Amino acid sequence: MKYKGIIFDLDGVVCFTDQYHYQAWKKMADRIGVYFDEKINNRLRGVSRMESLEIILERSTREYSEEEKKELAAEKNELYRELLGSMTPADLSGEVKETLDRLREGGAKLAIGSSSKNAKMILSRIGLEGYFDAVSDGTNISRSKPDPEVFLKAAEFLGLEPEECLVVEDAKAGIDAACAGGFDSAGLGEAAQYERTTYPLNSFSDLWVCCQE
Ligand code: BG6
Ligand code: MG
Repeated sequence: MKYKGIIFDLDGVVCFTDQYHYQAWKKMADRIGVYFDEKINNRLRGVSRMESLEIILERSTREYSEEEKKELAAEKNELYRELLGSMTPADLSGEVKETLDRLREGGAKLAIGSSSKNAKMILSRIGLEGYFDAVSDGTNISRSKPDPEVFLKAAEFLGLEPEECLVVEDAKAGIDAACAGGFDSAGLGEAAQYERTTYPLNSFSDLWVCCQE
């Protein structure tokens, strides 16, 4: 194996919670009368909850106080967690699980590197609680992607150096974070089209190929 560790983003990589983020923000934005669409939503990938809200409010005609912003973020998070509540292990695709198992059998240590404060709840809903060798998420960082902190912490938790690890991402902000931390990266979705991505992937199972010597 070319890498001793593989660090996976969660939302939009291991599972498709990115659609629930969109639905929850959309409901909140519609309620306050602020225009929001899937294109704007792409800018929120990998970005923290409060920074995501700031991006949505760029379209607002009025100012919101810090207190009001906290309430809006809490409203979105409640809607989001309601949607997460419907997830089951059936929401983890066979392709993802088989590829994770194969990489682990090949000798790689596996970690999560996610900006989300809901990461542990999601892992538990899809039956991956306790599966990863390390989980670095929104609860152990002070700066969100494109800052490399979440991936540097994941590598540290695995006891590995950045150059020994591969980061797997669907967001440009996540690829920028990987580059800033000195990691190679593999990209899905919009991250596969991004020139800074080391290995563009067509599907999750392609990971096996780029991890070979
Ligand atoms: C990232 C998502 O994984 O987590 C972002 O890509 C999201 O869209 C961020 O804003 C924070 O998530 P949460 O669950 O803490 O609101
Ligand atoms: Mg993502």
